[in-house]
Amino acid sequence: MKVLSVTSEIYPLIKTGGLADVAGALPLALAGLGIETRTMIPGYPAVMKAIGDQAEKVHDFGDLFGERATLLAAEYQGLDLLVLDIPALFGRLGNPYNAATGEGYSDNWRRFGALSKAAAEVAAGVMPGWEPDLVHCHDWQAAMTPVYMRYSEVPEKPSILTIHNIAFQGNFGPDIFPWLGLPAHAMSVDGVEYYGNVGFLKGGLQTAWAVTTVSPTYAREIQTPQYGMGLEGLISARAHTVHGIVNGIDTDVWNPTTDQTLVSRYTPSRLRLRQPNRQVLSERFGLDDDDSPIFCVVSRLTWQKGMDLLAEAIGPLVAMGGKLAVLGTGEHQLEETFRNAVRLYPGRVGTIIGYDETLSHIQQAGADVIVIPSRFEPCGLTQLYGLRYGCVPLVARTGGLADTVIDANPAALDVKVATGIQFSPVETWSLIHALRRTINLFEDKKTWMHMQKQGMKSDVSWKSSAKLYVDLYSSLKMMAPKS
Ligand code: ADP
Ligand code: GLC
Repeated sequence: MKVLSVTSEIYPLIKTGGLADVAGALPLALAGLGIETRTMIPGYPAVMKAIGDQAEKVHDFGDLFGERATLLAAEYQGLDLLVLDIPALFGRLGNPYNAATGEGYSDNWRRFGALSKAAAEVAAGVMPGWEPDLVHCHDWQAAMTPVYMRYSEVPEKPSILTIHNIAFQGNFGPDIFPWLGLPAHAMSVDGVEYYGNVGFLKGGLQTAWAVTTVSPTYAREIQTPQYGMGLEGLISARAHTVHGIVNGIDTDVWNPTTDQTLVSRYTPSRLRLRQPNRQVLSERFGLDDDDSPIFCVVSRLTWQKGMDLLAEAIGPLVAMGGKLAVLGTGEHQLEETFRNAVRLYPGRVGTIIGYDETLSHIQQAGADVIVIPSRFEPCGLTQLYGLRYGCVPLVARTGGLADTVIDANPAALDVKVATGIQFSPVETWSLIHALRRTINLFEDKKTWMHMQKQGMKSDVSWKSSAKLYVDLYSSLKMMAPKS
């Protein structure tokens, strides 16, 4: 089966978060199951540079949203890419969505409207020699693809919209509607209209044949007002077509036995070999070289991620004997708070504000615990990396975190299946209790090591989830009219 995947980021070319990891790893997992995926991605400078001269021009869209648009085909590290080259829209350095000020680009509706329009045209067969059987779109940036397919003359292809984070919806003022090139009746509740505005994600949720989200718990959560961010009614109305499929990870990129970014590689039976990584981590973050537990963070520093709760828990954590190594970027206030904590607790707290893929591997391989106190978490990948690396996850009981970590409660410890620590409600006091519980477990060396090993045994690969996608793809393809 031929699938067109449409995404605004993809590892290893352009990444701001987990979406890139998923968009990069899923096609490789599906390749072994008879699914041929081609991924459409905007031609940002990083992408254009990576594909270089080997790219082949496969289609000229002519004018798209007032700009000249072409489609380039290229292969990159096993990924089959279709790069949408529109220099005026995508030829901007840095973050794919935001200007240097941190504000979203004011023409994001045009940029991602164009991505979706181009994808719908490819789905309709404009590209010589290749036509997909199904289109798989990711997040609001690609969500207009099924909308364009719905309002086109050509019979629409089966489509899936995956919600990686319903907090990002791509809502724009009604004044953009005439520019989208959609018929007037698309500005209605059956189309893109969303409380008088144009909602990209809303339109996609309305028109995609199936909706998936990245964990079963999040699929249930977004049907409630607390998590649905205004879209809970629509999601609930479509509940029979909403599926929660938990993310996997690329177990080749994340493999402690072969990971070349580490100073020391290790296996579950040789956990002592984590020690040199722990030392490098301590040096990088300026932490005391002692045996007390190192808690780490690899995260966007935002409200979603509960980073303000962690900031409030630093005093108690240090008082209990823990250390903290924070790697992240995000809200200015939180960055400042974590920087200040270094001054308040020298040797006990280290903060690196920045994005550093290599260091994120060293943290998972060197720290004892990864803390993820998210208020909501569609899936979360860092707890999966933690499990794989013997870095025990301490997580809020929500979304994918609830689905992938087995809490060290007495019953789980008794039968030796625990892989981490969960806490709820997601509040500071509850996090502090969980930190206490974690330190107690850490001090019981035998139990701790067992938890590490149990985590490393968890199946965090794409194996089972890729099969679920194949089943879903196949069932949708069967619903398509025969051409
Ligand atoms: P989200 O996509 O909501 O940010 P995920 O846990 O799904 O959360 O994915 C985050 C991804 O980004 C992971 O691969 C994580 O390792 C990576 N990451 C986040 N912050 C940083 C950082 N400062 N440096 C390096 N990698 C980071
Ligand atoms: C989003 C979510 C995160 C998820 C990732 C990949 O960024 O916030 O929980 O893991 O997408 O699906």
